[in-house]
Amino acid sequence: MLTAQDIAQSKNNRKISMITAYDANFARMAQAAEIDMLLVGDSAANVLLGLESTRDVGMAEMLILTAAVSRGAPDTHIVADMPWESEQNPEMALSNAQKFLQAGAHSVKLEGFKPEIISHLLQNDVPVVAHLGLLPQSAEKFTQQGQSPEEAERIKQEAQALSKLGVFAMVLEHIPSDLGAEIARHVKSVVIGIGAGDQVDGQVLVIHDALGLHPFKVPPFAQKFADLYAAGVEGLRKYKASVG
Ligand code: KIV
Repeated sequence: MLTAQDIAQSKNNRKISMITAYDANFARMAQAAEIDMLLVGDSAANVLLGLESTRDVGMAEMLILTAAVSRGAPDTHIVADMPWESEQNPEMALSNAQKFLQAGAHSVKLEGFKPEIISHLLQNDVPVVAHLGLLPQSAEKFTQQGQSPEEAERIKQEAQALSKLGVFAMVLEHIPSDLGAEIARHVKSVVIGIGAGDQVDGQVLVIHDALGLHPFKVPPFAQKFADLYAAGVEGLRKYKASVG
C-alpha cells in the first residue's frame, strides 16, 4: 500500500491514479486494477444516495462507506472526504478525521482554503489532501474556476500556501489546463486533477462517471471508460425474460 509519504515522493517520477469508491466491491475492483488511491468522496451523496447536493451526506454515512471501502481494498491508500460542516473548527476537524483513520482511511480530504484547520490536522499526524478550484460543497454554479487573472492568482497562492503547510497532495477541480500545469510545476504536493488538464501529477474521477454506471449527463472532463449501466439494464432484461 502506498503511504502518504510514498505518494509525496512519487512527484515527477510517475502519475498517480485515484478513483472514488463507496463500497467494498467497487473498492475490490479498483484494487484489482492497481489504482493508486481510493477516494471515499462526498459525491456519494449524488451517485450513491440519489441526493441533490454533496452537503446532504454526513459523518455517519461517510464512516460506514469508508469502513466498507477499507474491507474491500485493504492494500490501497484510502482518502476519506471530510463532509460538509464536519470541520467547522480545528478540534472538531481533528476528532472527525481521527474517526476516519479508525474506520480504515489513511488520509482525509478537505474542500477549500482552510489553513488553520489543515495545520491542526497535520500537527496531529493526520495526512491531508487539499481540494481547490471548483468546490462542490459551497459552489453556487458548477462552472470552471480560475478564468480571470485575479481568480487564477488566488488559486495559485492558496495552492502554494497549503503545499507549504505540508499537504501531501491536492485535488484541483475544473480549472484551466495551463493553471493546473503551472500549479503542479510550482508546488511540492502531488497535484491530482479533475478537469485540470493532463500536465498535473495525477488524475481522479468519480467511478460512476468513469465506468458509465449511471445514465446522467457528466461534465466534459469526466471521461467514460466503460458502459456498465447499459450492460446492467441488458443483463436485467435477460433476467426478467428468464423469469418468464
Ligand atoms: O467527492 C468527490 O467525488 C470528489 C471528487 C470530485 C474529487 O471530491
